[in-house]
Formats: sequence, structure tokens, C-alpha cells
Amino acid sequence: MKTIKKRSWAEPYKMKMVELLKMTTEKQRLKAIKDAGYNTFLLPSADVYIDLLTDSGTNSMSDRQWSAFMTGDEAYAGSKSYYILEETIQKYYGYKYVVPTHQGRAAENILSQILIKKGDIVPGNMYFTTTRLHQELAGGIFADVIIDEAHDPLSEHPFKGNVDIAKLDKLVKKHGAKKIPYVCVATNVNMAGGQPVSMENLKELRAYTKKHGIRIIHDMTRVAENAFFIQQREKGYAKKTIAQIVKEICSYTDGATMSAKKDALVNIGGFMAINDWDVFEEARNLVVVYEGLHTYGGLAGRDMEAVAVGIVESLNDDHQKARVGQVEYLGHKMMEYNIPIVKPIGGHGIFVDAKAFLPHLTQDQFPAQTLAAELYVDSGVRTMERGIVSAGRKPNGENYYPKLELVRFTIPRRVYTQAHMDVIAESAAAVYERRKSIKGLKMVYEPKYLRFFQARFEKLK
Ligand code: F0G
Repeated sequence: MKTIKKRSWAEPYKMKMVELLKMTTEKQRLKAIKDAGYNTFLLPSADVYIDLLTDSGTNSMSDRQWSAFMTGDEAYAGSKSYYILEETIQKYYGYKYVVPTHQGRAAENILSQILIKKGDIVPGNMYFTTTRLHQELAGGIFADVIIDEAHDPLSEHPFKGNVDIAKLDKLVKKHGAKKIPYVCVATNVNMAGGQPVSMENLKELRAYTKKHGIRIIHDMTRVAENAFFIQQREKGYAKKTIAQIVKEICSYTDGATMSAKKDALVNIGGFMAINDWDVFEEARNLVVVYEGLHTYGGLAGRDMEAVAVGIVESLNDDHQKARVGQVEYLGHKMMEYNIPIVKPIGGHGIFVDAKAFLPHLTQDQFPAQTLAAELYVDSGVRTMERGIVSAGRKPNGENYYPKLELVRFTIPRRVYTQAHMDVIAESAAAVYERRKSIKGLKMVYEPKYLRFFQARFEKLK
């Protein structure tokens, strides 16, 4: 008898309910994408087969989260559910004070208004669209301090999310530490392709900022995925649990903004957390203006209950192994078809290098936007542009020209199967085969803020 060498792993859950999907024809999809101005954000989801637009708010909740929904306390003030959320955040992340918000950008708005003064410099390990916009609306100037490797889709650096302390030091020397209200550190950097920050880098950054009296604000939207990579790749962490690693990451920072719609496995929710009482006092006052009383911050009691349970589930080692494992499965499939993807494979999705995929298009012909539209037409798979359209314009009106021109295949948590991953990779391969015949786009409508959400395009002849 042969001994079986390979032992596959599988998800630590099974399905209890399914959502039926509509299948469409290529003719229907050609019309749908034209009607949507070649912007996948403007497609009705009913016309989408596999939805990889985002991992935000698209997760499947567990039976425990749904049960927690029923225990939500919908009191306007002092909801029991708020105290459960607060206690969970204190226990697992270690931050002292918590202000719930309806999602991440609301926390960014409040924090930016409190900490940033006009003309301040806000360094960050690459930008995120909403985060940078709120920094700019508060009068700040964003400065990218991520390591150079992060802008190179071919670099296999294991921690492409790291902060380049020399870049930060240059800013401090040029502007003075007083002009820098905080360094914004995102874990598992979204725009770099879901790439982690190392614990070593965080420790160095903590030491540096302590010396200069600068805060670190943590965009902890995907902190558990970052912790998984630390466990896999960083010396000394293989035997630590995701929960232990997450707590250590947070301990090197002074506060956080969180979109619970990602890691924390819910469909809506977020918060701001901070260790500084004075900032908390201002935040819990300001949240009343934009979101609601500080014990619900724009969320229903049941939402806060589901976030609390989701946080605990996100820190389970088997969960993270299956979550990132599924993304890696898709990435390896794509590589088998020679599709140019950002490496190492990221935590929340596969990022296809549209410049390498469609080298005959200039960046002004929107290669990533074009590729996302073509993929939809091929198979009904919906992806997202993360290139020149997402990068938008500088406060002076000029276009940002990001080095990375990517299409993001974002994988919702606990939603799709391995067979779905096969269909996705095969569709990307089919489009890759006919890539030379693909024409670019021109932008015919550009909204003022976060243009990628609502911009419209036409096909170039
Ligand atoms: N920070 C990061 C790193 C994010 O990825 C997001 C959202 C936010 C902040 C804002 O949070 O959406 O709850 O207001 N990212 C989503 C995405 C939209 O598709 O990547 P939000």
C-alpha cells in the first residue's frame, strides 16, 4: 500500500446557508459594463457572478455572530453592547479608550480633525484612499514613508509594508517633529498588495518616534492578517498565537482606526481607539456631531455585538490559516498561468500587475480599469482598479501617477469555495491569452472626491 504524503487542509467551518447567484451571458455582461461606464463600482451586484470588488463588509458572519445579533441592546445611551465591544477591544488589542463608528473612514475623519493642524505633515506607509483624503481635508500633507520595495511588484521582500525610518528621519529633520502629529502605520498594507509590516520594524519605529515625541496611529483594518505573516515569516514568532502577535503589534502604537468590515468579519462597523485620555475626550464629543452618541457611534447595538464576536474569531489561528491559504491558492493558480501578480502573495487578495499584463497601454489609458472591465465581460468576476484612477489628484489638481497600476482580486472571508478560485484563475488566463487585442479607456466623467467610485469611461477606438 502506498503511503499518502500530501495532507490537505480545509476551512474550519461548514456552510449552513447559501445565497443563490444569477448566471449571465457574455452579451448581457457587455451591455452591463457599458452601462456602468466601464467602472466595476457602478455594476449592479445582481449582474455579478463572483464578487471580488472588495473584502470590505462582504464577509460571511458565523452562527455565533448572528446569535449575538439577537442580544444587541438598542438603548440610545449606555448600551450594554458598547461595553462588550469596549471590553473586547481592551482585552485583545490593548487600547484603553474606544469610540465606535459606523465604519473606518468615520474614525479617520474624527481622528484627523483632532490631531492634524493645517500644514502638518502626515507620514504613512503608503496611502489609503479615504485615510489620505481625511488627512488632507483636515489640512495635512501626506508623505509616503514606505520602503521602496513596496512600489516594486516584483520585489519579494517578506515585509513590504515596512516603514523606511530613514525617509521618516528626513521629514523630521526638514520640518521638525512638531509638524508631524503622528505616523500613520497600516498593518498588512492594502495598496501595496496586502503586504505586512514586521515586528522588528514596528519596534524600531516605536523607539524612533518615542525619541522625537511623535505618536503612532495604527490603521488596524487587517491586523490579524499581518500577524499571520509575522507568525509565518519572522524569527521568534512561529510558536506565538495570532492573538499574542496582534496584541504585541498594538502595544507599539498609541491609538488606532479600524474598519471592522474586514478582519473583524462583519458587514458594517468600525471604531477609533486611543490611549490618550485628552484625545479620547475630544473624539467622544466629535462623534456626536457625525455619527451618534459615543456609546453607539452610528452602529446598532447588534452590530457592536457582532463586531465583538468577530474580533475573537479573527484571532483564531485556524481561521487565519484558511483565510490567507485560500488567497495563496488563487495566487499559485494565477502564477501557473504566468499571469503577472504582485509578490509575495498578499493577505486579502491577488493584485495583478496591469502594466505588465497590458504593456501596450499607457497609464493614461487606464490599464487596470480596462483589465477589470475585460475580466467582468469574460466571466462575471468583478474586480477593482487600484492604480491611477484610485490615486486621484493632488491638492493642487495634478494627477498622482502611482508606480503600482494594479487590479485587485479581493477575497471576501468565508464566502467562496476552491472551485470559485479555479473559475477566477481560468478567467484571468483567458483574458491574458487575448491581451494584445485589448484597447484602453478614456475618462468621460470625473467626480471631485475619491473619483474611482463613480468615474465613467468609454472604450478607445
Ligand atoms: N483603511 C484601510 C486600510 C482600508 O482598506 C479601508 C477600506 C479603510 C481604511 C476605510 O474603511 O471602508 O470601513 O470606511 N477599504 C475598503 C477596500 C473600502 O475595499 O479596500 P471603511
